[in-house]
Amino acid sequence: MHSVDRTTEQMIRSVLAYAENRLRLDPVPLDRGSRDPAELDVALSGLLGEDGHDPDQVLGVYASLLAPAVISADSPRFLGFIPAAPTKASLLFDMVVSCASIQGISWLEAAGPIHAENQVLRLLADKAGLPVSAGGCFVSGGSAANLSALAVAREVAKRASPDRAGRRWRAIVGSEAHSSIGNTLRLLEMDALVVPTADHRLTGGAVRAAIQADGDPGSLAAIVATSGTTNAGIIDDLAGLGEVAGEHHLWFHVDGAYGGAGLFAPSVRNAYAGIELADSFVLDPHKWLFAPFDCAALLYRDPALAKSVHRQDAGYLEVIHDQPGEWNPTDYAYQLTRRARGLPLWFSLCVHGVRAYSAAIETAIDLARQTAAEIRSRDYLELIREPELSVVLFRRAGWRPADYASWADRLLDDQVAFLPPTTWDGETVARFAFLHPHTSMDLVTQILDRMADG
Ligand SMILES: Cc1ncc(COP(=O)(O)O)c(C=O)c1O
Repeated sequence: MHSVDRTTEQMIRSVLAYAENRLRLDPVPLDRGSRDPAELDVALSGLLGEDGHDPDQVLGVYASLLAPAVISADSPRFLGFIPAAPTKASLLFDMVVSCASIQGISWLEAAGPIHAENQVLRLLADKAGLPVSAGGCFVSGGSAANLSALAVAREVAKRASPDRAGRRWRAIVGSEAHSSIGNTLRLLEMDALVVPTADHRLTGGAVRAAIQADGDPGSLAAIVATSGTTNAGIIDDLAGLGEVAGEHHLWFHVDGAYGGAGLFAPSVRNAYAGIELADSFVLDPHKWLFAPFDCAALLYRDPALAKSVHRQDAGYLEVIHDQPGEWNPTDYAYQLTRRARGLPLWFSLCVHGVRAYSAAIETAIDLARQTAAEIRSRDYLELIREPELSVVLFRRAGWRPADYASWADRLLDDQVAFLPPTTWDGETVARFAFLHPHTSMDLVTQILDRMADG
């Protein structure tokens, strides 16, 4: 299994050939094979057992039956949830990382790869205007990053108020905060002070008023802002929220898992004013910075605080601490073992240059604007709000939830697009989430045309 024998040679040829073909797909199709567990059981039957099989037979089953039984998030026709659009360079380099077994825990084990990852983190920190002292690490996703950051926020609050020992802490959140924030607060045994606003954009004014009206402001540990809500692409009032956080000595966390990449787009950069006040900031390159799954950047204004919370100590780990020039990614999140998941992004950024990234992000923003204009021009459609980033919410006059569901099902069945409906203020509506620079206005028009017959 570990030597380079005939079987290994055979796999190198066939698996690399398969990977090469997948990489050459342009565009990537949507796909949608079987989702029936019984059918999948039949397809896989007999393969996993005490005896091995010919690698080409196993690869054949994967290629013909498993690989198409997905909806490909990297297809330019994938317009639901938050899509993915990894560059070819990043995908290729992900293979290199996979082949290299880099243990990304510590400087001792992976100084070179971690240094390159840190250059990317520095680029992101510069885009956000965070101080030179800022730093952090790459984790598996926005959920992991939010959890790691808010664990630090809670700990910092605890240390500042030892008199509150044993009592629950709270975080201020907007009504549109991502579901992972609710999950994080539950895991950390914290509660949410939800501050609703008329237009779903959390503002400094609304939060200041909520704190004034609150009966227990001493239990507040953090303000959680979103720089690009998942459902609607709204950027909260970061300047106002950062100011209120400063006034009340609250941790200011900015969840830019989806929208943080907009920092690279000059046309919307002003909307992020105040992001430089963040104590912690999350941006998922596996979303809008065109990296493969799974890759989230987590940055702290004062990484020493994060280290004081997340550092793991054990006799066998002593050697990783106190290395000259040391930067141990494990010190900045709850994880220990860690893939050097920032490297594919580093490689692709170096190959293509930052300008190409800015242009690709602007392309999706521009498509959202064109789509909004197209929706406004059709009398059977209604734009719900002007897109700020690359999400567009709209309704079809007279449609009920079942109409949206069958429209979306038909689009997927016909392999036109994947865009499941969402809800807005309790109403089922349609939603485009653009991200792939090759999604065309032509495709958008086709999709909207298919709503014409009510
Ligand atoms: C704003 C926001 N935060 C957090 C997350 C969670 O990220 P992940 O799915 O990488 O855990 C998402 C995912 O869409 C998101 O949009």
